[in-house]
Parts: sequence; structure tokens; C-alpha cells
Amino acid sequence: MLDQKVHDESRQGEAYAPGVETVNEFAKKFYIESYGCQMNFNDSEIVASILQNEGFGATRNYEEADFILLNTCSIREKAEQTVRTRLTEFRKLKRGKPGMLVGVLGCMAERLKSKFLEEEKLVDIVVGPDAYRTLPGLIQEAETGQKAINVLLSREETYADINPVRLDSNGVTAFVSIMRGCNNMCTFCVVPFTRGRERSRDPHSIVAEARDLYDRGFREVTLLGQNVDSYYYINGEDQSTNFAQLLEKVALISPLLRVRFSTSHPKDITDEVLYTMAKYENICKYIHLPVQSGSTRVLQLMNRTYTREWYMKKVDRIKEILPGCGISTDIITGFCTETEEDHRDTLDIMEYAKYDLAYMFAYSERPGTLAARRYQDDVPDEVKKRRLTEVVSLHRRHALEGMQQEVGKTLKVLIEGTSKRSEEQLFGRTDQNRVVVFPREHYKKGEYVMVKVNDCTAATLLGEVVEPVEA
Ligand code: SAH
Ligand code: SF4
Ligand code: F3S
Repeated sequence: MLDQKVHDESRQGEAYAPGVETVNEFAKKFYIESYGCQMNFNDSEIVASILQNEGFGATRNYEEADFILLNTCSIREKAEQTVRTRLTEFRKLKRGKPGMLVGVLGCMAERLKSKFLEEEKLVDIVVGPDAYRTLPGLIQEAETGQKAINVLLSREETYADINPVRLDSNGVTAFVSIMRGCNNMCTFCVVPFTRGRERSRDPHSIVAEARDLYDRGFREVTLLGQNVDSYYYINGEDQSTNFAQLLEKVALISPLLRVRFSTSHPKDITDEVLYTMAKYENICKYIHLPVQSGSTRVLQLMNRTYTREWYMKKVDRIKEILPGCGISTDIITGFCTETEEDHRDTLDIMEYAKYDLAYMFAYSERPGTLAARRYQDDVPDEVKKRRLTEVVSLHRRHALEGMQQEVGKTLKVLIEGTSKRSEEQLFGRTDQNRVVVFPREHYKKGEYVMVKVNDCTAATLLGEVVEPVEA
């Protein structure tokens, strides 16, 4: 859980095998592998849906695939390296299987565009995040031996009408993308370049998707966007929906449907959102509020547009309106010009916020970003890494303390499935997103139970069910 890589890389290499049972055995098969953030994983589900509608079948086994698709991430250099290594493996496979096509999707496709086809000779298809509807046509083109590419970004595309295919899911929790792109210009970040301008998705389609998930037995949706608090949809001349209103609409689907969201930019989360969270029991009291740095000077260089003090006040406000609310964060160590004093400010703000979860990274310069153009990446690697280690170990302490505080409490848990450790144990999550493991008895996934917590590790609470929760 506290692995420095978790945010983007933890789910690397997971494959989707949607709808295998519904596909005729003669259909061409695709295999898709995803890297990066939750939104990218959700995009793979959209891609799977587009391909299935065209009659393609899915497979979990890339060796039997006619097309291998890699949905890629550019956030740090390492994320890109992982994809290149994976492409080398597929290249070997392709040599023995000449008809097989390899496609690169997602942020790396957008960042490198046709360079990909030049650098990686065995890549046949390159598709950016806003061009997935054209994938079936590009596959046809590639089948005739042409290199196929579409990396056009769009100001409108939200894939609102596409119902993502949800296989490889636990059947209980699902992601729902509510917007795409990002208009912020954090100087370290490649996302505005790979994902384009921010645009919000029609609230009716969001609510319809969440309701459909609920009707199919899902009990938790996570609303996704790079900056959910700037969600804003104009429905008509004088009708609009902001994020707080959208949250409310989704929460009203059923008190049994938990609602989460990610990510909140500290500058944009409003009291209205906090009050809406307080009003509905089923909106989880958990906020991912990336701080990036505890030093006002560094925050300014990052163009985060808040100061250290402003961020701390936001944390106070959250705790005032939502006592006990879980808070998580992202932190970058060794950003351009960061001094030991700046670094101590980061450790200090961590002491203040006592994050329940943190995703921590050493700064990785990304070509084309404002930081790459304006500033020197002047903190030596070993200093970045040493600071990262300090940040990680402080966070470990806070996370363990947070877990220990839960011991003795009785908490409401949504059951997500069988524990990895034992068939006899189930696991689920609390409102504050903590994993709880407890004896199976007769309980089933998708049910809510009250669990008395008896013990904990740094990552898991251990307990036993004291009562089911009435539906
Ligand atoms: N929209 C989200 C962030 C998405 S990227 C937000 O505003 O918080 C996820 C995290 O990756 C960022 O919060 C940041 O901590 C980290 N990150 C982004 N660019 C990075 C870079 N160049 N080097 C290291 N970490 C980076
Ligand atoms: Fe990147 Fe900043 Fe946008 Fe997040 S808000 S995606 S860190 S530019
Ligand atoms: Fe990576 Fe793109 Fe997401 S760069 S973090 S996959 S938006």
C-alpha cells in the first residue's frame, strides 16, 4: 500500500478480457493491457466496448490475440520505460506471428505521435485518448499493411454514450469518468499535453451509467476526473450542473450505492462539495487532496496556485465540516530548486495533515512541460531518492497510527470479495477506504456489514462481523 509506485504502476500489466463468453469463436481477438491512472483503466473499458460492438472478441491470453493493445502512461519516465520493455517482449512474439498487430493507445501515443512508428518499427497502430472511436477503422487500415495513426485531441469527446465493459471487475465497485482533460498547468505535469482541454460529461449519462451499475448489483462508484471539482456542465441556456450537484444526483440513486470521487485539486474543492458530502451518508468521507509539496516557494514554481497555509486551512475546513474524513495525497520530492528547507516543509505539512494514504514520487522531468522548458532539473537523483525515502517512512508511521486508531471501533464495511490470504476470509472497505479482513461466515460480496476491528497491520484492519446492515 505504501509502495512509492502504487499510484500509477500498481495495476500495471492487468489485462481485460471483456465479454469472452458473448463473442463468436471466429471473431478476431484483442488483448488489452493498461498502465497509468484509474482514468486510463476506465478508458480501456471504453475501448473494449467499442471493439466488441464491432464484433471483435476479447482474450486474456495475448498469445492467441490478433491485436495486442497497450494503453500507456507518460506521467514519469519510468512508466514509459515499462511500456517499452513490454513492447520488446511483444516484438518477439510478433516475429513468430506475422499477421498479429500491435497498437499503442493512451498518453504515450499522444505524446510521441508518429515518432512511435519511427522508433518502434513493430508498432502498427497509434491512437490518442480522444480518438478511440476510430480504432476499428485504424485496425482495418493496419490490416492492409499501412501504419495507422490518429492522435487528434478533441474539445468535445467524453464517450458519454459508450457503456464501458466491466469484466475483470469484482462486480461491486466501478469507475465512472465524469470529465476528460485538464486545464491546469502544473509545471511538472504532462497530462494537459496528453489529454487535452478539460471537458465535462453530460450529467444525465453519468447518472444513467451509475444507475445501471447499481441495477446490476454494483454497490460503489468512483467518479473520475483529473480535477473533479471543476466539473461544470451547461445543460441548456440557464441550466448548469456543478460537481456538488452532480455528487448529489449520484448519491440519490440509492442509499446503498456508495459514491467516491478522485481527484480534488485543493484550489477548487468548495464548501458546497463538503456540505453535500456531509448531507449524504453514502458519499464516502474520503478526499484525495494532492499537496505535491509543503513549501510555498516550490508550490509557486509548480504553479499549484495555493500556498502552504492555504492548503492547511483547507485541511482544517474538511475536518471541521466532515469530522473523521480520510485524507490522502500525492507528493513529489526533488522538484527543481527544492532545498533541504523546502523538503522539511513537506515533512512538516505531512505531520499536520497526517495522511491516511500517500502516493509519493521522485520528480521526473517530462519533455515539453513548463518545468522542462523553464527550470533546471537540478536536484541530484540520490538527493531526490533520499528525500523520497524520508517522506515514505514518515508516511508509514502516520498510516500505521491511523490504522491503530481504528482498532476497537465498529465500522461499516462494503464487502468486495475473498481475501487474498485465505478462502475463509472476506475483505471489504470502510468509508475511509481502509481495507478490512474478517471471517467469511455466510456473508457475500456486495453486502454491507458492521465489523468490530480487533487488530491491524500497516495496510489492513482485522476484525469480525458483529451485525449485518439492513438493506
Ligand atoms: N490530477 C491529479 C494528478 C494526476 S497525476 C492532481 O492534480 O492531483 C498523479 C500524480 O503524479 C500527481 O499528483 C503528481 O504527484 C505525480 N506526478 C505528476 N507528474 C510528475 C512528474 N513529472 N514527476 C513525478 N511525479 C509526477
Ligand atoms: Fe497534472 Fe495539475 Fe492537471 Fe493534475 S491538475 S493533471 S497535476 S496539470
Ligand atoms: Fe498517466 Fe495519462 Fe493517467 S499520463 S497518469 S495515463 S492521464
